Amino acid sequence: MAFERTLSIIKPDAVAKNVIGKIYSRFEDAGLKIVAARMTHLSREQAEQFYSVHKERPFFKALVDFMISGPVMIQALEGEGAVAKNRDLMGATDPQKADKGTIRADFADSIDANAVHGSDSSDNARIEIGFFFPEIDIYLR
Ligand code: TYD
Repeated sequence: MAFERTLSIIKPDAVAKNVIGKIYSRFEDAGLKIVAARMTHLSREQAEQFYSVHKERPFFKALVDFMISGPVMIQALEGEGAVAKNRDLMGATDPQKADKGTIRADFADSIDANAVHGSDSSDNARIEIGFFFPEIDIYLR
């Protein structure tokens, strides 16, 4: 397993439910370290750019509307196999299909309001961390 970083976003539904701390505990208990974090309210342009791989999908507009419906908490997580570990903690995209004990099974209501985002590959993690934390190496020097 590679020592790597991944990008995580706690989405507006989970921020509104006041479970940032509970989700952070899951990262930490799994050995993932929060190495950068910022709460922000995404602009439509940022959300469209971030999810641009999905721009032709039927759910794109609803996804962007949802992502800008309230504040989000964005973090870079670091650890052994961080990308896969975070995806395991998150559970399946559709919370009804997510394994018991995963973040989405416990905190998400639906496939569109599904509590968290996590990079799906180390290449995408690099791109996504660069998108939100271009200055990250300054913190970690
Ligand atoms: P995707 O990258 O397929 O899932 P994941 O977040 O698990 O990597 O999709 C990105 C987001 O798009 C997903 O978290 C929620 C939204 N989405 C829908 O609203 N409806 C859908 O049918 C799908 C597949 C995704």
